[in-house]
Amino acid sequence: MKHFTNVKDLGNLELALKEAFEIKNDRFKFSGLGKNKTLLMIFFNSSLRTRLSTQKAAMNLGMNTMVLDINQGAWKLETERGVVMDGDKPEHILEAIPVMGSYCDVIGVRAFATFEDKEHDYKETIISQFIKYSGKPVFSMEGATRHPLQSFADLITIEEFKTKPRPKVVLTWAPHPKALPQAVANSFAEWMNETDYDFVITHPHGYELDPQFVGKAKVEYDQRKAFEGADFIYAKNWSAFEDPNYGQVLSVDRDWTVDTEKMALTNNAYFMHCLPVRRNMIVTDDVIESDRSIVIPEAANREISAQVVLKRILESL
Ligand code: CP
Repeated sequence: MKHFTNVKDLGNLELALKEAFEIKNDRFKFSGLGKNKTLLMIFFNSSLRTRLSTQKAAMNLGMNTMVLDINQGAWKLETERGVVMDGDKPEHILEAIPVMGSYCDVIGVRAFATFEDKEHDYKETIISQFIKYSGKPVFSMEGATRHPLQSFADLITIEEFKTKPRPKVVLTWAPHPKALPQAVANSFAEWMNETDYDFVITHPHGYELDPQFVGKAKVEYDQRKAFEGADFIYAKNWSAFEDPNYGQVLSVDRDWTVDTEKMALTNNAYFMHCLPVRRNMIVTDDVIESDRSIVIPEAANREISAQVVLKRILESL
């Protein structure tokens, strides 16, 4: 595998899951694979889980790691070609990328949607530039439209906890005070559409996701109805996708918060969230602290998803 930005890059998901569980069983089995290879992780945005889990996965494979926070200590980067650089950005990304590529063997990039230009976001302009100009394999640590390492970890987690071959999985929008990208929701939907799970998306009117990600999912605007019989509840906030409201918060209606009363409608469902989560906005304390909350094993599986991806990239060098 040369680059990893979406579910298709992983190929057969059953094989990928088999590899994930093999690694989970012995995460140091391939510890010689990354000898003398360097991973550079580039963050345009903050992170806790992605930063630590990806670094740990690389270390399990014997790699060296370097981390660069673009907005803390690095030069501010201009990303648009043709701009007269007389502002506060002293370096252009078109020089910075090949320079960064010259110091490493594999590059991970986190670059969220900026909401300034929907086309710029949905073309994944930053990650695409790294793929084009770095000369190195590139993987997404969350782009403008997808978070594939998270979605892969989510899939591993559902496979571990499911008690029937075809569980009902519900992706529910939940309120948040700030405008968040659609990336986690898009990506989760994209990965769920690759399974034969009974997959339902529920959100208020105005929060429709890009149809390319919704795929064959059932969209149910009544959250309580969507929860009926669910085996997994995956909560996430996202901002509006459709024009003219792209990137806007249309509602902070706490009637959409996941609480004990709504979880009682489910088939004793597990609660999932990618974290970080705003308690008592997205989910109540009671639900996230309950024995049906699997947010911690879900986060722990980020190490495994990253290790499968890095292993495959290393095998292709
Ligand atoms: N879920 C996730 O990607 O967490 P971080 O933003 O902390 O990396």
